[in-house]
Amino acid sequence: MPSFEENTPPRDSSLDPRERLVEAVPRGEDQMYDRTLRPNQIHEFTGQGRLVEQLMLSVEAARQRGEALDHVLLYGPPGLGKTTLAHIVAHEMGVNIHTTSGPVLERRGDLAGILTNLEKGDVLFIDEIHRMNRIVEECLYPAMEDYLIDIIVDQGPHGRSIQIPLPPFTLVGATTRTGMLTSPLRDRFPITHRLAFYTEEEMTKILKRSAEILKVELDSEGATALARRSRKTPRIGNRLLARARDYAQVRADGAITGPVAGQAMEMLQVDDLGLDEVDRHLLAIIIDNFDGGPVGLKSMSVAINEDPETVEEVFEPFLIQIGFLNRTPQGRVATRRAWEHLGRVFPVSRTAPDFLQPE
Ligand SMILES: Nc1ncnc2c1ncn2[C@@H]1O[C@H](COP(=O)(O)OP(=O)(O)O)[C@@H](O)[C@H]1O
Ligand SMILES: [Mg+2]
Repeated sequence: MPSFEENTPPRDSSLDPRERLVEAVPRGEDQMYDRTLRPNQIHEFTGQGRLVEQLMLSVEAARQRGEALDHVLLYGPPGLGKTTLAHIVAHEMGVNIHTTSGPVLERRGDLAGILTNLEKGDVLFIDEIHRMNRIVEECLYPAMEDYLIDIIVDQGPHGRSIQIPLPPFTLVGATTRTGMLTSPLRDRFPITHRLAFYTEEEMTKILKRSAEILKVELDSEGATALARRSRKTPRIGNRLLARARDYAQVRADGAITGPVAGQAMEMLQVDDLGLDEVDRHLLAIIIDNFDGGPVGLKSMSVAINEDPETVEEVFEPFLIQIGFLNRTPQGRVATRRAWEHLGRVFPVSRTAPDFLQPE
């Protein structure tokens, strides 16, 4: 009987999405960097100008009134600083932060336990708040609105619940997908902010700060070379910096210069736009196997041996962001820039607008 392995097409390990260097979702190794590199105070936080100005104004106003800050919802792609901002808010308010996440809060009791331990003005940070179950979510409503929580005291037929008052607190919720929040929950956040991708200059500044903390020499060309490949995402930038530091230490004299950064990235197969093998493989399949598209998500996923959700949520967003991929009603299309980046000649037939084509 053929084994499972024999029936499964061989898989290049460099294409494993869980092994990707340029993946914005946190991995185990990030925890250490996140702890050491995460800005604690607002003046250490680069970028997100308008968001920071508005959020800090709210903080200042609440502080002056001696009240808890209104609840805050932060949303945007992974790795852009949502968790960091939650900590900064608590720091700037001068209060404690309690952190948990949607999937961890399984039962009402889990939430009640945390809420009843809050002190006046504290921040409760719920990461991945879109993954909270309905029962826990409904328990959160009166807590957010009136600082009250229902506690069930007797189980069974005589079951009854009592309401316990909570100290005023601030809920900071983070999500990568606001579309997945129910509207009653979304409506209970007076302050909502969306995090944006970072510019190359902002990324350069973030990398220089990180290099100082890691005590590695990084010159301007080195910083620019890494910033350009960071996919506009601090978490990825910090990860590339850590790998470039290893390379510089072993293959050079320890300093990350432009050429050293370039060589390190080449070794790691991250190209000058921050695309890796997974990205290039995906684009090459669309171009070579499907003439550049349009191709349906399913057919494309089968061709690269990956499940459609991963393709849609992990692989595609950045390619769409940089204008290499379009989602059309007919399916996915690789753009001219994608063809050219992969060194393919973009067919003339694809550029000619319909009205110029012979009947
Ligand atoms: N604006 C910023 N300035 C400096 N470093 C940042 C900034 N935003 C994020 N980072 C860094 O990137 C890492 C990921 O940020 P994080 O707040 O965990 O992202 P998210 O919660 O949105 O996934 C953190 O360790 C932090 O060091
Ligand atoms: Mg986070």
